[in-house]
Amino acid sequence: MKRGLFITLEGPDGSGKSTQIEYLKTYFADKNLPCIFTREPGGTAIGEKLRSIILDKENQEMCDMTETLLYAAARAQHVQERIKPALEAGTIVVCDRFIDSSIAYQGYGRNLGDVVRIINELAISGCMPDVTFLLELSPEIGKSRICEENRDRLEQEKLEFHDKVYAGYQEIAKIYSGRFVEIDAGMQKEEIRDEIYTQIDRILRGE
Ligand code: TMP
Repeated sequence: MKRGLFITLEGPDGSGKSTQIEYLKTYFADKNLPCIFTREPGGTAIGEKLRSIILDKENQEMCDMTETLLYAAARAQHVQERIKPALEAGTIVVCDRFIDSSIAYQGYGRNLGDVVRIINELAISGCMPDVTFLLELSPEIGKSRICEENRDRLEQEKLEFHDKVYAGYQEIAKIYSGRFVEIDAGMQKEEIRDEIYTQIDRILRGE
């Protein structure tokens, strides 16, 4: 079976993933390669509805396990409806956040631990990314880049939560070092872009 390339971008809030995704659109368009861009939570009609429930600032009473299961439910739908069919058709999939966000935010940030990985492995049924770019930026700087009134329920969390998420990301990147590419998100956006381009060039050459 043909299989496309599955690329994910991860990092703390405010780390500049959206800017890099715009650069990747240009990269793949210039190369004329079939590619879809999607995001989590979201990427499907059901997933986008779940996204608005999860991120709604009014839902302060949401418990940590509910949050975890909603992210995983949106992800299960996303994998079955969009990601798997695209990869099977040989399309490149670029996804803004995926399973590692749940492990970092719910596993480490909410202290739920390894159960988050187990739930999410069920949700993705083997559909793991081929490469994950982790944009590393201190939570203090990340938070300061998002203006206060635009912060969603997760972004509103205390710095202590975001510090745990950041530490979590660093541990995950060590555990899955073969898949992760760590990038200093404090660099200029063009330098980050070039680093990502170099890595994808390498992967496309089959190295
Ligand atoms: P976004 O702002 O990057 O679109 O992501 C929405 C928020 O949801 C962000 O604060 C990270 C958080 N999140 C999780 O906590 N767990 C997850 O599994 C995902 C995908 C995102």
